[in-house]
Amino acid sequence: MHLDFLGSLERTQTCGELRPEQAGADVVLMGWVNRRRDHGNLIFLDVRDRTGITQVVLDKELDGAAHAKGEAARPEYVVAVKGTVRLRGAGLENPNMLTGAIEVVATELLLLNDAKTPPFSPAEDAIANEEVRLKYRYLDLRREEMQRNFALRSRVAMAIRNYLVDEGFLEIETPFMTRSTPEGARDYLVPSRVHAGNFYALPQSPQIFKQILMISGFDRYFQIARCFRDEDLRADRQPEFTQIDLETTFPKQETIFRIVEGFLRAAFATAGVTIQGGFVRMTYDEAIRRYGIDKPDMRLPAMVDLTEVLTPELRTTLKVEQGLPVIGFTVPKAGVLSGTQKRALVEEIRGSFGDCGLDFLDVARLRTNEAFQPLAEAIAAKLNAEQIVFGGNNFTTDDLAIVITPKLGTPETWNYDPQWIPKKVGALRLELGKKFADKHGLFAKTGTARDYKFLWVTDFPMYEWDEAAGVWQAAHHPFTSPHEDDITSGRLVHDKGAVRALAYDIVLNGTELGSGSIRIHRKDVQAEIFRSLGMSDEEAKERFGFFLDALEYGTPPHGGIALGLDRIVMILAGATSLREVIAFPKTAKAIDLMVDAPTPVSEAQMRELSLRTVTRS
Ligand code: AMO
Repeated sequence: MHLDFLGSLERTQTCGELRPEQAGADVVLMGWVNRRRDHGNLIFLDVRDRTGITQVVLDKELDGAAHAKGEAARPEYVVAVKGTVRLRGAGLENPNMLTGAIEVVATELLLLNDAKTPPFSPAEDAIANEEVRLKYRYLDLRREEMQRNFALRSRVAMAIRNYLVDEGFLEIETPFMTRSTPEGARDYLVPSRVHAGNFYALPQSPQIFKQILMISGFDRYFQIARCFRDEDLRADRQPEFTQIDLETTFPKQETIFRIVEGFLRAAFATAGVTIQGGFVRMTYDEAIRRYGIDKPDMRLPAMVDLTEVLTPELRTTLKVEQGLPVIGFTVPKAGVLSGTQKRALVEEIRGSFGDCGLDFLDVARLRTNEAFQPLAEAIAAKLNAEQIVFGGNNFTTDDLAIVITPKLGTPETWNYDPQWIPKKVGALRLELGKKFADKHGLFAKTGTARDYKFLWVTDFPMYEWDEAAGVWQAAHHPFTSPHEDDITSGRLVHDKGAVRALAYDIVLNGTELGSGSIRIHRKDVQAEIFRSLGMSDEEAKERFGFFLDALEYGTPPHGGIALGLDRIVMILAGATSLREVIAFPKTAKAIDLMVDAPTPVSEAQMRELSLRTVTRS
């Protein structure tokens, strides 16, 4: 195969640019062969770059040499085309292509590079095997969808950066090689050659540094910051990810909310999405009570408390535990279910609870029984009220009504944790919502049904009880400030379970986008929090001594937040995994399949770092 050099040829246009107005113009395009169709004397090459695709015609009668090269060209060859733009013949236009009204008749074709037959074609929309995609990521990234995702990511990041700079934030970088940060995952460690046996930790977030920047008087800091966490991976978790991290001095919670809402509106606008309406506010307690989860998906109606509707007498008849909550919810537009579908659903619901003492009331069946009709109507009325509040549409026979009751006689299962039943029912609400409502486009990735429901969850508990370890853990990181009155009232010492944190999450459609808090700025309070978490003064000094010291030199009140950039782009791209919006991601087992990392290192490197591999039994 003879390959050409570019010589003096310069690209005049990109492959997505040409329109009928340019008919007659001489142009030079460069790109990859997306597809090739051979019609004998006429060969069509679709030439692709990141802006689009242009159809190139190689006509044997016009230019035999160019046509001969066209015969040799194969998908993914890199070519340069010199030619003239002409309108496509009537009926031959392709309305699905930006350049579909024109084609370029080649007068010269250069084959700049050849390509092996790729393991999959970048011209295809969807590739089934993700491992192959990740191994040949450079081919995968050539696909139009991926190019679109990364163009979006770049625009979103730029919109946020511009917004924050306009708001007076300074972008400041913080170290990657540092010591353990307190986000609660495992650290990735970097061994020091110079200081044998010592390690740097990669930051789980810039948390401590950004607080120190506030102590340093920078007033408003932000960073589009890479973070590293060795934790169990899921579709929305990568070991390396990017945060939009910010911190400001003298804020109220509302200050942070206004800034975040502002940059989210700007970021979504670059993706063509106008955020409708406001950002709902809800306390953690309300989120658990009404949605059974601290990141409610507001596209589905909330759960409804039916405890009062089931009177003691009805509970006895229906074998429902006295005194415990009864919770119902609707799945809108699930459709009228057949008898078989209903039985399967009942089995599924019972199965999802296992034998944990919860049961299910079939509202539709109750309705057909005269004795229970008033109950069924009362339940329907309550569910209706939520639907009206929610979507303005009445509860209809199309909507599935689910009522979950505690089964008689097995109360120890939920251990009287008041959140246990709502959490369990909340999980079922989501599961059934996704299963049934999805059919009707409620969770559609694209199109008009697309709906973005933002909310702020506030007043998280300060502590979580760790049953296994028998200690209180910080629910957020340990620099989060409790409510001032929880400090002054002494609850901090005497009633930890009731202490509320000045912590907040921003949630979109059931995904936690970001998390932040007003911080502790006084050394005495910070020391008390460390102590209350079971950390001795020595241990606190050992881990965070530098920070406790810094707090003693005039620390202003401060607070901030960090949002996952990858998650924002994932949702905007309509993707279901972060791997679609991170150029070189890791698998669920934290492997980079393209570069093949991690790998063992040479004996010499190990020796230099004073390391030895120990086989774990
Ligand atoms: P947090 O740990 O809640 O808070 O993280 C903030 C946001 O970062 C994103 N995120 C992740 N994205 C992808 N993969 C991961 N493994 C991953 N882990 C977290 C999420 C999450 O909401 N320093 C605090 C913030 C603060 O208090 O200002 C922090 O890091 O979108």
